[in-house]
Amino acid sequence: MTDGPSYGFDTLQIHAGARPDPATGARQVPIYQSTAYVFRDAEHAAALFNLQEVGYIYSRLTNPTVAALQERIATLEGGVGAVCCSSGHAAQIMALFPLMQPGRNIVASSRLYGGTVTQFSQTIKRFGWSAKFVDMDDPEAVKAAIDDDTRAVFCEAIANPGGHITDLEVIAGVADAAGIPLIVDNTSATPYLCRPIEHGATLVVHSTTKYLTGNGTVTGGCVVDSGKFDWSANDKFPSLSQPEPAYHGLKFAETFGPLAFTFHGIAIGLRDLGMTMNPQAAHYTLMGIETLSLRMDRHVENAMKVAKWLEDDPRTDYVTYAGLDSSPYSKLVPKICPRGAGALFTVAVKGGYDACVKLVDSLEIFSHVANLGDTRSLIIHSASTTHRQLTTEQQEAAGAGPNIVRLSIGIEDADDLIADLDQALSKATA
Ligand SMILES: Cc1ncc(COP(=O)(O)O)c(C=O)c1O
Repeated sequence: MTDGPSYGFDTLQIHAGARPDPATGARQVPIYQSTAYVFRDAEHAAALFNLQEVGYIYSRLTNPTVAALQERIATLEGGVGAVCCSSGHAAQIMALFPLMQPGRNIVASSRLYGGTVTQFSQTIKRFGWSAKFVDMDDPEAVKAAIDDDTRAVFCEAIANPGGHITDLEVIAGVADAAGIPLIVDNTSATPYLCRPIEHGATLVVHSTTKYLTGNGTVTGGCVVDSGKFDWSANDKFPSLSQPEPAYHGLKFAETFGPLAFTFHGIAIGLRDLGMTMNPQAAHYTLMGIETLSLRMDRHVENAMKVAKWLEDDPRTDYVTYAGLDSSPYSKLVPKICPRGAGALFTVAVKGGYDACVKLVDSLEIFSHVANLGDTRSLIIHSASTTHRQLTTEQQEAAGAGPNIVRLSIGIEDADDLIADLDQALSKATA
């Protein structure tokens, strides 16, 4: 298709990045299962290796199936380019890599997916990077945490596990005033519910493992580049603004302008870190994205019904869904995610740890798994699984206390989901 600004989301989720295969006319994006691509001649090869011409060299860097997915996600997010990676966690490292050096830090939300908290509080230390965790509801705290070595602010649009919403515009303003980018993990919201770049984000990361693929088949990740950040405005980002020795002194910001981050991600990030998405995974995710808006509407509709029912049920203490009027985040829904507050939230169950364990064991439709964003409804009791190594105080601080379960509401019949929860709650609290 010819890209046009007038196409709606539903059209772009099917067509962006895809065109009939030039060799065969195949209408669906083929899985280009090839490691390498033949150069036209030696001059062509040299131009590709010098980044003077864009094309395919080797699938660690670029692959036509993966490229179609990159273009599609970038289009849906309103970015100029994207780099797909082997997982959501890989995408987070790929987002930070061009910005960071030993001794630098990020200011990250205290409400993040637990795996991201571990990645940022433990693993990135081995690169000489560090993270300061702050409450993103408090912009003054974010501002106070930023120092001369801070190179990014990181948050989730709709936070896992509680479904809390971040006021992206306010946090983007704080990052902007400090001359650093805001990186938003948009996994739980998807570009259908929230478009972080429109709220001032510089980069958007995804675990495509979740709603974008939508059916729990493959892991993947993506970094979307807004193309709006001036990497040369100060001396904080030498990898993008200064000469790159591995490319004869080429300066990414000067040479590629708004696409500097995307080209760096491919030419340096994928080349040397190698966290590449494979074409099979890209194919599954392309298939999934075609129905993203339809699924998200149903996820949101079901989440609202289930959350309301759970909130009114005497066997629960509270429900954290931001779509409920009782949520302190409900006022941010029209501003940040006008099509709905997603389908991820936590529930406090009367009866504590034992009741929660009995609940997950008694459910028939909900699956007890460490995943979210599937067509199927999912549940996890974090205190007995992902967070079991933590103390009760640490579990509670993470929103994963012994009495808490996290639900990812699927697209089944809402009445069936409610009936399943009803029978399992009866057993759990008997
Ligand atoms: C919000 C969020 N971000 C990132 C990740 C990491 O993604 P992946 O498992 O694809 O590495 C997850 C995984 O659950 C997640 O929930």
